[in-house]
Amino acid sequence: MENNITTKKVTFKVFRFNSETDYLPYYDEYAFDVTSEDVVLDILNKIKWEEDGSFSYRRSCRHGICGACAMKVNGRATLACKERMFDMIDLYGNEMTLEPSSIKRAVKDLIIDKGDFWAKHEQISPYLIADIDENPDEERLVPPEKAEDILEADLCIQCGACHYSCPVVEINEEFIGPAAFVKAYRFEADVRDSKHNERFHEISKPEQGVWDCVKCMECAEACPKEINPIEKITKLHNMLFQEGIIGDNPVAERHAVGFAHSIKKHGLLDEGELVRYSEGNVGVLKHVPIALKMFKKGKIVLPWNMPKSEKLDEIQKLVKSSHNPKY
Ligand code: FES
Repeated sequence: MENNITTKKVTFKVFRFNSETDYLPYYDEYAFDVTSEDVVLDILNKIKWEEDGSFSYRRSCRHGICGACAMKVNGRATLACKERMFDMIDLYGNEMTLEPSSIKRAVKDLIIDKGDFWAKHEQISPYLIADIDENPDEERLVPPEKAEDILEADLCIQCGACHYSCPVVEINEEFIGPAAFVKAYRFEADVRDSKHNERFHEISKPEQGVWDCVKCMECAEACPKEINPIEKITKLHNMLFQEGIIGDNPVAERHAVGFAHSIKKHGLLDEGELVRYSEGNVGVLKHVPIALKMFKKGKIVLPWNMPKSEKLDEIQKLVKSSHNPKY
């Protein structure tokens, strides 16, 4: 049988750090021929088995199921057992840097302390809560159309790729993060769950909850299972709106409502009014210095001078049609 395996030479810069002995991390360099059959995990194995037995990383299933091998290649979240080396070469060329998912949480080489990840996960009650009749007469079935709502979220393997790619997690230790929100959505969308209201409050707290998501899309980009966490976060936003749940600090929620209000009224975004709408008549005072600068540059106008879009009718129809829970 013809052997179609080809090879290419790649240079790897590999993150090394032992939290027990090293003050700072450093990088080891290796150059290998990689084959068209190799995935990134094969390279990690090669380094450990042929170059340096002390090199450490997590792996288990080798089938993209356990989530253990999450790491970063050239700064991009990667599931080592899933990504093919030749695809990586197409993306990055012949030089690659292999690093842990989160450098600041590195314990030993590519192994990180995921304690914060699991603590956040625990925070949203990540299980089905329902009064179960211990002697039921019939099954409690989930209708197929409702089951579809949770199938994608159910595919999450808890690898942490989205969590450690999220810029808000990096700067705000309280923020629950995209992976835990996906899990919260999975149970919020489950018709059998009876903890909706409590969980809604857990995920909408100021500084921690879904309203602190900055919608940068990094989580969608990072997820190796293509679960699209930002879409689930947006669905949670919509659920909270529908339930009329406003957190203790409603600025983010009011910002979203004010945004829609401005577009509906003018077909354009009234930046000045949006701040007043979000923060109230008193809260807006702290923004006066910046508002004056924006006013001078023509970025905001006095309320009675706010123009209306020429296509206001069309925009209002779009706003109306988007007020469908489906979206
Ligand atoms: Fe299990 Fe990669 S080893 S997901």
